[in-house]
Amino acid sequence: MVKITFIQPDGSSREIEAEPGTSVMETALANNVDGITAECNGSAACATCHAYFEEDRLNSLDAMAEHENDMLDFAACERRSGSRLSCQIKVTEALDGITVTLPEMQ
Ligand code: FES
Repeated sequence: MVKITFIQPDGSSREIEAEPGTSVMETALANNVDGITAECNGSAACATCHAYFEEDRLNSLDAMAEHENDMLDFAACERRSGSRLSCQIKVTEALDGITVTLPEMQ
């Protein structure tokens, strides 16, 4: 299992055991983590699964496709260097111990 820590905008956090092969978005929804709505169910078409990943771990994430890059410009909260659509991030062992911060709104 891969441990992912989700941090809410208020600073509270939860460590979740994620199953490799699922997405970070699916992991959040399956564990009732607040802050991800995922209206398009993972099609990279809504940006309501926006999250901030640790900047020094970005190299361990799947590469960003052009459509994800475009959709991030429509995220409800500011885009930062660690911004990704969590539905596009597959859980792999390389993510073990990563911190994912949720934005104020989706
Ligand atoms: S769930 Fe819609 S973009 Fe990720």
